[in-house]
Amino acid sequence: MSTKYILITGASTGIGYEMARLLAAQKYNLILVARSLQKLSAAKAKLESLNGVSIKIFQKDLATVDGAQSLYHELKAQNLKVNMLINNAGSGVYGNFTDTDLDEELKMIQLNIGSVVTLTKLCLQDMLIQKEGKIMNVASLLSFLPFPYYTVYSATKSFILSFSETLAAELDGSGITVTTLCPGPVDTGFNTEAMWNTNAYKANQPINAAVVARYGVNLLLNGRGKKIVGFNNWFISNLPRVTPDRLMMKIKKNLASQRTQRK
Ligand SMILES: NC(=O)c1ccc[n+]([C@@H]2O[C@H](COP(=O)([O-])OP(=O)(O)OC[C@H]3O[C@@H](n4cnc5c(N)ncnc54)[C@H](OP(=O)(O)O)[C@@H]3O)[C@@H](O)[C@H]2O)c1
Repeated sequence: MSTKYILITGASTGIGYEMARLLAAQKYNLILVARSLQKLSAAKAKLESLNGVSIKIFQKDLATVDGAQSLYHELKAQNLKVNMLINNAGSGVYGNFTDTDLDEELKMIQLNIGSVVTLTKLCLQDMLIQKEGKIMNVASLLSFLPFPYYTVYSATKSFILSFSETLAAELDGSGITVTTLCPGPVDTGFNTEAMWNTNAYKANQPINAAVVARYGVNLLLNGRGKKIVGFNNWFISNLPRVTPDRLMMKIKKNLASQRTQRK
């Protein structure tokens, strides 16, 4: 019987690395994907020596059009069997939509949406044959309440929640679960200085990536549906239900603004 692996994208740092650490400690074999070979190699050496598991690493840019497909073909060529998939890699662009860089935004769409749809579709074919599998997609608190200045990023994360929830329903009874992890602000390299400088980050302090990873691992292994990380974030995610749209957008615009940014 071939060895089973959990594939984690964006596993060199942040939430992805913390999930890899927790899963390796639980003796799961892992495939780690990111762009930085140096960070991946360091993660492999550390996690293998600490836990005695098999860690495969793949240096891939998933923001390119064929990145996710070529990753899948390399996995197949090496006969690696993925029975769980965590689509975690993601990037964010913050700023006035009129000023932000189009190329950067198109790459973000490819990474946050294109690579998720591609890896999910390809890995799912194999999971369906095995009649078992778990897929977890990392969305965001902003999936529920799109923020100004995160205009395209918020939309990518709304896509991920919508995609994951409907796919989970299609797969009901198949033995394959699709779950969605929805963190609020997390203290990782994802956040630029401009993001740290917003009112939102003062009002809702970023939490530790290891804490988010614990929720993520539990959701992947045992969960169904979606998990909003933390009571504060759960409360915030429900505000649009009881707040008039125009007032809600005004509050969000203020929260996403920097002190120097025009309102
Ligand atoms: N941090 C937050 O406040 C927050 C809040 C809500 C949701 N999230 C979501 O959580 C997920 C993980 O974010 P994080 O906070 O852990 O960010 P992070 O610390 O910046 O880590 C991102 C990971 O993705 C990899 N990555 C980035 N671009 C890539 C590309 N083009 N191809 C392949 N891998 C790539 C990075 O490695 P390389 O740079 O080596 O490629 C790294 O391993 C993302 O989907 C993000 O949208 C984050």
